[in-house]
Amino acid sequence: MDYADEKLNRRKFLLTTTTIVGGAGVVATAVPFLSSMAPSEAAKAAGAPVEVDLTGVEPGKISTVEWRGKPVWILHRTDAMLAALGKHDALLADPASKIQQQPPYATNPARAIRPPFFVAIGICTHLGCVPVFRPEPGAPDLGADWPGGFYCPCHGSKFDLAGRVFKNVPAPRNLEVPAYTYLSDNRLLIGADKKAG
Ligand code: FES
Repeated sequence: MDYADEKLNRRKFLLTTTTIVGGAGVVATAVPFLSSMAPSEAAKAAGAPVEVDLTGVEPGKISTVEWRGKPVWILHRTDAMLAALGKHDALLADPASKIQQQPPYATNPARAIRPPFFVAIGICTHLGCVPVFRPEPGAPDLGADWPGGFYCPCHGSKFDLAGRVFKNVPAPRNLEVPAYTYLSDNRLLIGADKKAG
C-alpha cells in the first residue's frame, strides 16, 4: 500500500471513528446533520452540488451536510463570534488566508460570502480527522487564550471560528472552504460557484 492509499484509508477510518476518539477528555458539541434538499444519493456521490435550507441553523449553532462524501459545516456565527475573529491574529499561522484554501469570494477576514454563515469542509488539514466544534472562549482544556473554534482530537490542531489554523500545531493550513453560492437569503448551494451573468 503506498502512502496515498494509506492516507485515504486512514481518512475513511477517522471519519467514522472520530466521535469515539473525541470522547477522551473532551465534551464534544453535537453537530446535527441537516436534512438538505439534496439530489439523489447517486448524484451526491458523483459530486453534485447540495442545496441547504438555512432556516434551521440558529445563531451560535453548527450543522453538517455531506458533499462528495465529506462533512461540510454550516456555522451560524453570532455578532460576538464575528467580533472576536479580529482579536487573535497573532496566534494564527495564516490569518489573512494567503494560502488558497478558499474561493476568491471567501478570501476575506470572515472567510465567507456573508459573514454570519461560515461554510467549511470539516476535515483537519493534518491527516484528515474531523475536528470538534468548541465555541466556548477560554475553555479550561484549551487555554485562557482560546477564542472559540474547532479542536482536532487526533493530534491537537486548533482552528478559529473562521477555520484559520493556529501556530505550532500539526495542521499546516486553514480549513478548506468549498465553492458555494446563495440561491436566496435562506438557500445555500454547496459545491457550485455563482453562475456568471
Ligand atoms: S488529523 Fe487533526 S491534528 Fe492530526
